[in-house]
Amino acid sequence: MENIKKVSVIGAGNMGGAIAVGMAAGGVVRASDIIVTARGMESLGKVRMAYPEITGFTDNAMAVKGADLVILAVKPWQVRDVISGIRDEIDYGGTAIASVVAGVSFEDLYGMFGRTPDNPVFRIIPNTAVSRLKSTTFIASDREDAVISGQVDAIFRSMGDVIWTDERMLSCGMALASCGIAYAFRYMDASIRGGMALGFTEEEARRAVLGTVEGAVALLKAGNTMPQQEIARVATPGGYTAKGLQAMDDRGFEDAVLAALRASVG
Ligand SMILES: NC(=O)c1ccc[n+]([C@@H]2O[C@H](COP(=O)([O-])OP(=O)(O)OC[C@H]3O[C@@H](n4cnc5c(N)ncnc54)[C@H](OP(=O)(O)O)[C@@H]3O)[C@@H](O)[C@H]2O)c1
Repeated sequence: MENIKKVSVIGAGNMGGAIAVGMAAGGVVRASDIIVTARGMESLGKVRMAYPEITGFTDNAMAVKGADLVILAVKPWQVRDVISGIRDEIDYGGTAIASVVAGVSFEDLYGMFGRTPDNPVFRIIPNTAVSRLKSTTFIASDREDAVISGQVDAIFRSMGDVIWTDERMLSCGMALASCGIAYAFRYMDASIRGGMALGFTEEEARRAVLGTVEGAVALLKAGNTMPQQEIARVATPGGYTAKGLQAMDDRGFEDAVLAALRASVG
């Protein structure tokens, strides 16, 4: 296959829509080379509101014709029907296939396509920050192909960080970063509501929590440090922070986080 230029995203929902918008913003794929599909016009409208140059279709078979990369972004229980509608339309010599569908393996995909596609197949787990070019994306490929993998890497790297892994670790990557963004929001939500319980307005508490999390990330990145090192700079033994951390430990904060990660490994 030639360089990846035209990309069709099948499913324009939370993830597929965010990928389409993120790709256009990332600049590796031109907005006018992106097609998204959905069953109805509502989700297509949201994507095209951000980038009117993106083409929206309700016909998947038409969308995959001439595509260099097809990204499947429908719900797991919808993917079999979607593939049965496109598998005879795909040019297997010219099109690479990627799936962001959680829990559907390479073997499952081969079964649904009724063949092992000629080009490498990619399983990709981004998170919703992809639309803001801040995703942490895990990618696994079913075979070595430096050229096509390099192009898929460039597309997703334009939307944030990319961690290549093997298929076995994808569900753990999903727990850590894809479900994980919700756990980060849960911590922030608890802090905002805690700030309000202490007497701040919602607006003040939100500003304080967003700024504090942003500051924490900046410190870790600038110093290339681990959180424990930064905690040691804040928490003096017997001081206020140490008392707060002890209260978190007493209520099983770390256990709760680990339990959430384990519960969300598919
Ligand atoms: N959300 C996340 O954070 C996340 C992270 C990693 C991976 N994923 C994976 O991403 C996939 C999609 O999740 P989501 O949250 O984006 O779901 P979603 O918001 O429900 O989006 C699904 C999209 O698929 C479209 N669709 C359904 N059947 C279709 C068909 N036959 N032809 C064309 N389009 C069709 C829907 O169209 P209509 O809008 O017209 O109904 C909708 O736009 C899932 O498999 C999930 O495992 C999600």
